Amino acid sequence: MRKRVVMVTGSAGEIGQALIETFAACGDTNLLTLDLRPLPPELEGKSIHIVGDILDDSLLGRLVTEYEVDTIYHLAALLSTRAEFTPELAHRVNVEGTLRLLRLAAEQSEWQGQPVRFIFPSSIAAYGLPDLETKARDSRVREWDWNTPTTMYGCNKLYGEMLGSYYSTNYRQLAADRPVMLDFRALRFPGLISAFTVPSGGTSDYGPEMIHAAAQGKPYACFVREDSRIPFMAMPDAVKALLDLAAAPKAALSREVYNVTSFSLSAGEIRDLVLEAFPEAQITFEPDLRRQGIIDSWPADLNDNPARRDWGWSPEYDASRTFHDYLIPNIRERYR
Ligand code: SER
Repeated sequence: MRKRVVMVTGSAGEIGQALIETFAACGDTNLLTLDLRPLPPELEGKSIHIVGDILDDSLLGRLVTEYEVDTIYHLAALLSTRAEFTPELAHRVNVEGTLRLLRLAAEQSEWQGQPVRFIFPSSIAAYGLPDLETKARDSRVREWDWNTPTTMYGCNKLYGEMLGSYYSTNYRQLAADRPVMLDFRALRFPGLISAFTVPSGGTSDYGPEMIHAAAQGKPYACFVREDSRIPFMAMPDAVKALLDLAAAPKAALSREVYNVTSFSLSAGEIRDLVLEAFPEAQITFEPDLRRQGIIDSWPADLNDNPARRDWGWSPEYDASRTFHDYLIPNIRERYR
């Protein structure tokens, strides 16, 4: 009999590593993880890990002959800064990769006669505000506001959401025998900050980079202006959001895509919090105009009322708890 698994793509990335730790701590889930890279040594043995490419159809075909997929956390993606340097590659990974996983989930739903859950992390990059006046005025955007992204990554995520909605409601809508459809659920995350991993290729990376540099005693030149403001979230809350959304009863969900957020800080406010903990930190602001343009197009905050109302979303880490209880002690320990 095929083994029933929860599948995680992009599992060697920041969210993936945190998700594996959380599943492993509960101990009752068979995890099948997939990434181009091996997992770091401390995660070895916590999942069945496959080193491979989500664009490899024969690999995906082989996996479904061996495993019955219950839920997919499709985390694999090229982030926003990286994607601007290789937009066509980003499209392949972020869109074609997502399409392949959606098709896999659609086929699995049909074979199993029950919907496979497909959990998709989307992003504040799905928004694109035209100028700073609008950003100041429409400061807590709702899911349907300003869906006009300016980056390849943002376009890819927005379209990934649409593809997910299509596969879960309209897939093969003209066929006489409509199949059982998958159960697609997406979260639009703010910038994420982990104490244990450092991001790469994102544009919200200045937040985590500033903290990790300070803890290592390294000077840091922040690539956006001091007044740049976007929302952030601590990694444990990001994992909680993914798991809570996956566990929510379908009947409670009024939408397929939900904003979730925790706190909104300017780059200057992050610097102040870092300086409280590391008074010697050398932090300067040397804006890169192009990356600044991306941050200026992202909202200052997210309205996550639908998530709070429908499935009880509530972050456990506000800015103070994120810094004082989670980031500072764990990061200090990490670089000691
Ligand atoms: N952290 C991501 C990025 O900066 C946004 O989702 O690309």
